[in-house]
Amino acid sequence: MNVEEAKQRITALSEEIRKHNYSYYVLSRPVVSDYDFDILLQELIRLEQQFPELIEKDSPSQQVGGEITKEFRQVIHRYPMLSLGNTYSENEIRDFETRVHRIVGEQVGYVCELKFDGVAIGITYRDGRMAYAVTRGDGIQGDDVTANIKTIKSIPLKLQGSDYPDEFEIRGEIILPHSSFEKINLQRQEDGEEPFANPRNAASGSIKMQDSAEVAKRHLDCFFYYILGENTSFNSHYEGMMKARSWGFKISEHTIRCNTIEDIFDYLKTAEKLRNDLPFDIDGVVIKVNSISQQEMLGFTAKSPRWAIAYKFKAEQATSRLLSVDFQVGRTGAVTPVANLQPVLLAGTIVKRATLHNADVVAALDVRIGDVVFVEKGGEIIPKIAGVEKDLRKPDSKPLVFAKTCPECGSTLKRNEGESAWYCPNEAGCPPQIKGKLEHFISRRAMNIDSLGEGKVELLYDKGLIHNAADLYDLTFDQLIGLEKIYPATDEKKTRTVSFREKTVNNILTGIEMSKQVPFDRVLYAVGIRFVGETVARKLALHFLSMDNLRNADLTSLTDVGEIGDKIAGSILNFFSDPKATALIDRLKLAGINFEMNPALNPRKSYKLNGLTFVITGVFEKYSRDGLKKIIEENGGKNVGSISAKTSYVLAGSDMGPEKRKKAAKLKIPIISEDDFLRMLNME
Ligand code: IVH
Repeated sequence: MNVEEAKQRITALSEEIRKHNYSYYVLSRPVVSDYDFDILLQELIRLEQQFPELIEKDSPSQQVGGEITKEFRQVIHRYPMLSLGNTYSENEIRDFETRVHRIVGEQVGYVCELKFDGVAIGITYRDGRMAYAVTRGDGIQGDDVTANIKTIKSIPLKLQGSDYPDEFEIRGEIILPHSSFEKINLQRQEDGEEPFANPRNAASGSIKMQDSAEVAKRHLDCFFYYILGENTSFNSHYEGMMKARSWGFKISEHTIRCNTIEDIFDYLKTAEKLRNDLPFDIDGVVIKVNSISQQEMLGFTAKSPRWAIAYKFKAEQATSRLLSVDFQVGRTGAVTPVANLQPVLLAGTIVKRATLHNADVVAALDVRIGDVVFVEKGGEIIPKIAGVEKDLRKPDSKPLVFAKTCPECGSTLKRNEGESAWYCPNEAGCPPQIKGKLEHFISRRAMNIDSLGEGKVELLYDKGLIHNAADLYDLTFDQLIGLEKIYPATDEKKTRTVSFREKTVNNILTGIEMSKQVPFDRVLYAVGIRFVGETVARKLALHFLSMDNLRNADLTSLTDVGEIGDKIAGSILNFFSDPKATALIDRLKLAGINFEMNPALNPRKSYKLNGLTFVITGVFEKYSRDGLKKIIEENGGKNVGSISAKTSYVLAGSDMGPEKRKKAAKLKIPIISEDDFLRMLNME
């Protein structure tokens, strides 16, 4: 076969395979047998091996994966990935409808959809081909997981038809069907690995795997529910969804139009019943205003669209028996009681463990070993014990005794007045606490020593080379070179060997050296004083200007700083009265860490608005326009004069002009108030 013939055959095969994929994965109506399908795919792969120059980026052969991503590229969302207002009550659905009707002032039609319980994804298509796929992340920026998404067979790499916009983003939910979930967990158990708690976790772990060939094996699926773009040609959400379906996207058959509130309530009931029969998890229903022009009239708040609301199902419960209780020590030293249960099926997954939160919860429930308990899966990932069937209790049962000593290091547990958690006080000697502190110290928003990420600090700790942050600054090349540890597989990663070769060691040492430049406010945050988070650390640093001043401060001078109350002040005093803590501080100082604030050299107050572009318009109450512009710049953001597709937010005071409002609505840019903005920066 010559190149020309091969090219033609490859195109024909690709088209045919694409059609079969669509019939099988999107429509669930296969037209050929698996065997016949495999023959076609094998032929394509063989031809592509023979003529590698003819491999198209979106060839169906590329969907088996193979690309390895070490670190996902961060991508700023073209449109922020907002969430939805939530409700559990029908009355609030009525309120939503009333509100919408009041603002729109005319007849409103709705679309009801299932609320898929998976992981959100935004995929951009250019000229009918998948360009890139980004996870939600923090809503502002997420991970580029294109290589992994390409392995999901129900997601088209190349669109059908021709009436799609040149460029648009489509959002959907990556889900793991129950059947795949069960297979994966069975395999994991056979391999001696911890099974996934639920399909959502498994889906989320899967799309962040480094090896896309592994992702392909997970059999993920995806339903789409939102199209964003400037040149879309549909007038209603429903029409958009039907178009998307014709382009090859999987749109649920349970996406329907509703014209009255009664129709909506009927749908809620149907969906709640349907839930038990669906082959995947849903956690509610989403109700959306159908007309795009009405959506534009309603617009967005800083967090969510005003034209949609999510109705969440109440948590599902099951009964089980409490077999025993373990006590787990977290990174902060807080001890969490965890119930071991007789395995029970709950919302499609087997539950064996549930959290009992803390001693107060244990006491309030008066839960005892042997009790029949109600297990519930709420919004949280970990199921909890929601109640006890006391009538079924055995007469000889005894109240549960909470741990008195730390299960990791044996120290006597402590509890501060007014707090529910018991703590292991051995901050400097309890392994999970030490590791937690070290990981916090090197984290991105603290000292940002990223060359030590991915288990490398853990290795240094396990090898006995570091016990606290100051030890990092004493590490030498000779100590590090050749270190090695094999880590067993976890939810997201295969077994891996961490070994320090010359390049790694040099990177680590450079990273540590560079951290000496980190400004004092982040150092203060990195040190990890209880209750001193980023914002408090910045306030303290700007007020006291140096570690020495802070160390010498008394209660009054601490509480004189705005928003520092007795609790934080007490924790700071406590920290500096501990000889171990002050010894650590002294060693860090000696190592050359930045212990002084130089506001002139470091005007940037945070990096929270990195990559964001603002348009300021109207009149404000708390700050002047210039004041707000300064705040934006100080926090890493950018100001621009007019609204364009690149604008992240419109910061609007009173008197925002109708033209600007229209433009923002058209480009789907959230309009936020002064208070919303200040809240973003914890400044309100
Ligand atoms: S619409 C701007 N529709 O729920 C509104 N979201 O709590 C975009 N979700 O982030 C979301 N099913 O990950 C929409 N039919 C559906 C959905 C859905 C699941 C997820 C999505 C979103 C979250 C909001």
